[in-house]
Amino acid sequence: MRAAILTVSDRSFRGERPDGSGPVLQQLLRAFGAEVIELTVVPDEASVIAQTLIRMADETRCEMILTTGGTGLSPRDVTPDATAQVIEKRLPGMEEAIRQESLKQTPFAMLSRAIVGARGQTLIINMPGSPKAVRECFAVVEPVLSHAVKLLRDENPYAETDHVCRPSRS
Ligand code: MTE
Repeated sequence: MRAAILTVSDRSFRGERPDGSGPVLQQLLRAFGAEVIELTVVPDEASVIAQTLIRMADETRCEMILTTGGTGLSPRDVTPDATAQVIEKRLPGMEEAIRQESLKQTPFAMLSRAIVGARGQTLIINMPGSPKAVRECFAVVEPVLSHAVKLLRDENPYAETDHVCRPSRS
């Protein structure tokens, strides 16, 4: 599975703060078995975020894009809005699962507007902008990522498994 990471942060883009959560996502994805083909940092600009998502999905043709940052309420937080512009199918179940599990970690999870959806055969998942948050959110979606990507590719997700539709939660 080919994955791209998009860190959305004005400060990291300007070089004022190191990108903390992008490299954590990179580690998590590699441990999961994905090939991380790109880690890009962009400012909190809706048009730049949307254009980068479109390029990653349509030209790089990765199966999955994980974004981190810009999901909150401050005036510059526009990642979910830019994502909504480019996705074709929204996946509320994954959004709800992330929020539900995140609320068990922190009440501040209700301040994230993160969304999930598909553009073509690419799954796009918004996550908040901290190493802690991306670890927690990745743990929620990890059990269903392969299944979701196979469905997007119109492959039989059960082909090489014994009907593993119920991911084990360890
Ligand atoms: N979700 C999880 N799982 N863990 C977290 O630490 N932080 C919250 C929330 N969601 C958090 C989380 C906080 S403090 C904020 S402000 C919002 O995500 C938005 O974060 P963002 O603006 O960095 O995207």
